[in-house]
Amino acid sequence: MEQEFSVETLLQHLGEQEPFPYGSVTPPIVQASLFAARSLRERTARGGLNEAGYVYTRHSNPTVRLAEQKLAALEGTEDALCFGSGMAAIASAILSFATHGAHVICVQTVYPPTQMLLESWLPRYGVQASFVSGECPEEFEQALLPNTRIIYLESPSSLYFRLQDLCAVSALARERGILTMCDNSWATPLFQNPHALGVDIVLHSASKYLGGHSDLLAGVVAGRKEHIEQVAQTRELLGGILDPFGAWLLLRGLRTLPVRMERAHRSGLQVAEWLAAQPQIAKVNHPGLPSHPQHALARRQMRGFSSLFSFETHPIREEQAYTFAERLRLFRFGCSWGGYESLLLGWTQTPPDAHGKASWLFRIYIGLENPDDLIADLHGAIEALTPS
Ligand SMILES: Cc1ncc(COP(=O)(O)O)c(C=O)c1O
Repeated sequence: MEQEFSVETLLQHLGEQEPFPYGSVTPPIVQASLFAARSLRERTARGGLNEAGYVYTRHSNPTVRLAEQKLAALEGTEDALCFGSGMAAIASAILSFATHGAHVICVQTVYPPTQMLLESWLPRYGVQASFVSGECPEEFEQALLPNTRIIYLESPSSLYFRLQDLCAVSALARERGILTMCDNSWATPLFQNPHALGVDIVLHSASKYLGGHSDLLAGVVAGRKEHIEQVAQTRELLGGILDPFGAWLLLRGLRTLPVRMERAHRSGLQVAEWLAAQPQIAKVNHPGLPSHPQHALARRQMRGFSSLFSFETHPIREEQAYTFAERLRLFRFGCSWGGYESLLLGWTQTPPDAHGKASWLFRIYIGLENPDDLIADLHGAIEALTPS
């Protein structure tokens, strides 16, 4: 079925050729911890699995499996696994391949808890990490050590939305037998398929766009069967599988992913272009804008752009940043993204100067509201950011 239909059609039909019980159009939530076999003899012959191929939900579950089939088809990988959060997926993937004595090269602007895992937590188990900006493939080459086992990518990366050349980096890793992993949460499988560009393992926080409704915590690991089997063993031992209801919410979110992403692409660019034209804004970090230093690469390796980006101010007083935020009526202030609601967060980028002024970085997420309303809201508040 994979080759026959487009992604939008596969999302609705893959794994659903047989009607669900009672003709239900939504899949059942198989809320079971245990799957028993009818015969002890058969169970033993099947290596502990029952007649349907299940044993215990920490190992696998039919509702979770349906989500995994759809995600593998979306990412164009042989298989995929769902986890209880993006961090459970990321940690399990890294732990599956980073053995004692291994070295990992990672991108500096990676999602901060991933950086913390590599920098502060894994050294306890004899795994070391180096960090590079990732903006040119040579940096990875220069950071290589004889014991480098993993190159960890996140493109575009968190906060500054910098890219890595996925083709070039995965080619240099492949030549040396190094595994590549890429967090693809920002672009989603609709706008970027790292595996098709040579990356071995694709990771997602499905708590973002894939779930899409700010009501789910989930993660995904996708890749070749041999790698997925190894990660499945880690998942079973660490117990990080997604629960059946979470998988059902993920399946529901995936149904509307193409329409939500089309909207995210358009609305994100519209607001980014408007912000880039405002005198109060020093810089907008959005890979879809021609002003982004890696715009050409972005167009080469992505088919679209999502609606999370950041903008930087000229030096301002702290009070101005808070006044700007307080004047907004349609944005909420929170750390996740990928749902229906627009969000804003802000930080100083530099220590305050002698006049108490600093440049601020705002991360903005454009939700499903009408972008004209969001621009009007920003218009009503942006005066507060005027340098004085
Ligand atoms: C890029 C990126 N990757 C991974 C994660 C972690 O995902 P989760 O919160 O589902 O554990 C996040 C969460 O914000 C993220 O932004």
